[in-house]
This record gives sequence, C-alpha cells and structure tokens, in this order.
Amino acid sequence: MFAGSTAMDLSGMRKKYKGDEECFEENQLVSLDPIKQFGDWFDQATKCPEIGEPNAMCIATSTKEGRPSARMVLLKGYSDEGFRFFTNYESRKGGELESNPYACLCFYWEPINRQIRIEGNVERIPYQSSCDYFHSRPKSSQIGAIVSRQSTAVPDRNMIQTPSWCHYTPYSVLLVCSYIMEYL
Ligand SMILES: Cc1cc2nc3c(=O)[nH]c(=O)nc-3n(C[C@H](O)[C@H](O)[C@H](O)COP(=O)(O)O)c2cc1C
Repeated sequence: MFAGSTAMDLSGMRKKYKGDEECFEENQLVSLDPIKQFGDWFDQATKCPEIGEPNAMCIATSTKEGRPSARMVLLKGYSDEGFRFFTNYESRKGGELESNPYACLCFYWEPINRQIRIEGNVERIPYQSSCDYFHSRPKSSQIGAIVSRQSTAVPDRNMIQTPSWCHYTPYSVLLVCSYIMEYL
C-alpha cells in the first residue's frame, strides 16, 4: 500500500497470546445457534469493565462495483431477525447500502479475546420504528442528527456554528434511519 524509506516496519509488534491451556475449544460454545452464541459473548462483553462500548462494531459496505468502505457504528438491537443499527440514509454507507444492500459486521472485544463477524443482507426497518428510535434519543442527539450532513466535509468549525448550516436540512429527521441486517 505504501513504499519508500518512511515505511514503518511493524513486523516485530506483537503481544503474548494466551497459552494452549486457555485456548477456545468448540465444546465451550453455549449453542450452535449463532444468535444465542452471539448473545452469550455479547453479555460477557457488557459485563467486562475494560470494554467501554461493547455494542461498537465495524460495518463494512461496498459500492456496486465492489469498492469497500468500513466504519464504526453502534448495535442497537439484535434478535433472530437480525442486527439493528441506525445511521443516515444520505451518508456514504447509506448510499452504498441503497445500491448494494449487503454488509459485514465485525466486533472485536480485545479484553475477552473475542472477534465475531456477521455477514448478510440489509434492509430498512419500518419508518415508524425509525421515528420511535429518533424520539427516544436525547434532545442533543436529535438536533445533531437533524442538522448534520453525515459523510460530507465541513469546511471549518465556524461553519457548523452558523445558522445557515443548521437550517439547511430541516427534512433530515426523515433520513435518520435504521437498518436491520439479517445474518446468512
Ligand atoms: C464508537 C463509534 C460509534 C459510532 N456509532 C455510529 C452510529 O451508530 N451511527 C452512525 O451513523 N455513525 C456512527 N459513528 C460514526 C461513524 O463511524 C461514521 O463516521 C459516520 O457514520 C459516517 O460514516 P460514512 O461516511 O462511512 O457513512 C460512530 C463512530 C464511532 C467511533
């Protein structure tokens, strides 16, 4: 990805992993149902004080041409139907999901040595559920969601503080959206 004398050699960078006696064996799974297994590990992560945001996950989307992009979002629910998250329909990920409704989620909980990858198709949840979530959020988050134009460059900090910046997307409450991702 890069070349030249400024390249950093990180090949020696490693931490000591646990020994064989602590390694994970299949017989330690609580269930062969992936959602139940997810729930068990998610509960462990929520109880672990070193994990600040256990519901933070990386979501990868891709353009129709197959060019991927990834970023963190928060898991806001899960069930046998899938994994629920909220974002802006007009964001980069929102645009990519419109044209290519597949995504991959990845959780990594380092203190408990767990990584989970979930792949599947993504669909919008009903409009009313989006609205209910929107109204359940603190007022400051509601305002932020309405005025922010996710994924677009902000010219400078002053710009955010000008009324014109704040007024130009009054309709975007409709765009604070939510998706559910079924697992495959
Ligand atoms: C820990 C963490 C949680 C985040 N949660 C969300 C979220 O739930 N929804 C969201 O739209 N963006 C969330 N973000 C911001 C996204 O990572 C991202 O910057 C933003 O959604 C724009 O992404 P995009 O331009 O790739 O669409 C979160 C960022 C971090 C670091």
